[in-house]
Amino acid sequence: MYRFRPDYEMRARPINEYPGKSEQAKAIMLMIQNNLDYAVAQHPHELITYGGNGAVFQNWAQYLLTMQYLSEMTDEQTLTMYSGHPMGLFPSHKEAPRVVVTNGMVIPNYSKPDDWEKMNALGVSQYGQMTAGSYMYIGPQGIVHGTTITVLNAFRKIKRSPKGGLFVTSGLGGMSGAQPKAGNIAGCITVCAEVNSKITHIRHSQGWINEVIENIDALVKRVTVAKANKEIVSIGYLGNVVDVWEKFDQENIHIDLGSDQTSLHNPWAGGYYPANISFEEANEMMADNPDSFKIKVQETLRRHTAAINKHTAKGTYFFDYGNAFLLEASRAGADVMAENHIDFRYPSYVQDIMGPMCFDYGFGPFRWVCATGQPEDLVQTDLIACRVLEEMAKTAPEEIQQQMQDNIHWIKGAQENKLVVGSQARILYADAEGRVNIAEAFNQAIAKGEIGTIILGRDHHDVSGTDSPYRETSNIYDGSRFTADMAIQNVIGDSFRGATWVSIHNGGGVGWGEVINGGFGMVLDGSKEASRRLASMLFWDVNNGISRRSWARNENSLFAIKRAMEKQPLLKVTIPNIVADNLLEF
Ligand SMILES: NC(=O)c1ccc[n+]([C@@H]2O[C@H](COP(=O)([O-])OP(=O)(O)OC[C@H]3O[C@@H](n4cnc5c(N)ncnc54)[C@H](O)[C@@H]3O)[C@@H](O)[C@H]2O)c1
Repeated sequence: MYRFRPDYEMRARPINEYPGKSEQAKAIMLMIQNNLDYAVAQHPHELITYGGNGAVFQNWAQYLLTMQYLSEMTDEQTLTMYSGHPMGLFPSHKEAPRVVVTNGMVIPNYSKPDDWEKMNALGVSQYGQMTAGSYMYIGPQGIVHGTTITVLNAFRKIKRSPKGGLFVTSGLGGMSGAQPKAGNIAGCITVCAEVNSKITHIRHSQGWINEVIENIDALVKRVTVAKANKEIVSIGYLGNVVDVWEKFDQENIHIDLGSDQTSLHNPWAGGYYPANISFEEANEMMADNPDSFKIKVQETLRRHTAAINKHTAKGTYFFDYGNAFLLEASRAGADVMAENHIDFRYPSYVQDIMGPMCFDYGFGPFRWVCATGQPEDLVQTDLIACRVLEEMAKTAPEEIQQQMQDNIHWIKGAQENKLVVGSQARILYADAEGRVNIAEAFNQAIAKGEIGTIILGRDHHDVSGTDSPYRETSNIYDGSRFTADMAIQNVIGDSFRGATWVSIHNGGGVGWGEVINGGFGMVLDGSKEASRRLASMLFWDVNNGISRRSWARNENSLFAIKRAMEKQPLLKVTIPNIVADNLLEF
């Protein structure tokens, strides 16, 4: 694994420091190195960027070969990447993507976790998560923004101010570690349990949690005081999350919002730690006695769910955070199914919050990276994006004013929140029109020499990029949520509308075999071609998903797609005609 690991410093360099014949290829090299930066990646030596096993490559030889190909390719070639393996350079043309990435794509019948273990051991497939294997991870900022939007909207959903409200969850890892910070930005009290002492103390020293408490009685006392004083505070509890749920039930501590971000997409290999045994004992059991470990995990999941059920009976709003908690709890036989025995009794955060409030309107995690590496460029782009959004907000319809204002607020505070780790990157939730307008304004600023090259992208966790029945497409109720046409259509459509690189993955977030997800990267260089590409591709990249969501009769998507058709006469989407309920009655 480590044999070919280079000894130079791993980080994104300014784009002009990369060797090569293609600016686009240089931008991809920059993004690859950023995904492997020691400050950014979770296990950089193992080429894992985030999410426990989200790999950029399977080994360092693949990394070296890929960088070599990128440094020699021209804009008349395309590099194909098979699960980290650079298959080679193929002749193409200037308008084609420079790189096409596939990760973990296997025949559906061979897409079970055990199959993955075998194929990964053989070196023929890898788990790319979402932005790990597609070179589009921008450190914790992306997660902090998405989590803040989720927590804020969850409080809106229960019609309660975050002030003095209690949010209980778990995990201080790669993505889960954003929860306490998001809780602070949203303005509530957050208790986040974490079994790993090292991670807990690192998060504390990084300022991602305000306090660490190791004793459950002390936690009860501290939370009682925080509630009385309506404090904004984040507390890392060093211990098992099940103990928190059970103790707070016994002590009658009301939890307003509850969730979970243990890595249950990976339950048998360290994603979820059983209760009543120490972290060290659990690690030994996992290696020496995997069958007993599995039994313990499932016992804990049943206890965990039982405690959550007691709280929700008392009014807690619990949502699944896309970590396969409800799925694994159901597999463990926990009391987690709805009365129809098909759905879960709790919604996923996309079903209730992100889906209807953001994705259905086209709002999603748009992002950009300043390829010069200059913080001044990021300041300039923040100002440009803010100006564009403020202008749009003046005439935006009532239905999307809340999202517009949330994002203007976010971008205004972005510099102050100091969220940049690795490349000079920014995330912002924007709809199709916002993404196109912001990107076009960047392209014009590049043409005028005000800023350098910009790399656009997004998380796969977006309007159109991901088909995932228990997460991104969980608020699709016409039966199509188990299909994956949208994600596949999306990547194909992006590739011929001007993306610089595209990717399509099996797995990501909720686990291998559970989701198909894709994304893109696009280089803006101030040219007319870039302007044409961004308008065409970004419009498609969002409206593809809105059209599918509207066909599923999602009300907010119907609104959004009709609005898009009014603005773009070449768009003509099949619209469902809603039948009045009384016509269906006999
Ligand atoms: N944040 C997001 O926006 C988001 C979105 C979708 C999905 N997810 C999912 O959230 C999960 C977490 O992601 P991550 O990158 O943080 O993974 P991670 O593995 O880095 O972190 C999970 C943490 O949970 C801890 N943990 C496990 N069992 C525990 C228990 N019983 N009690 C307390 N702590 C426990 C682990 O020690 C670990 O530190 C993944 O499944 C991911 O796919 C996150």
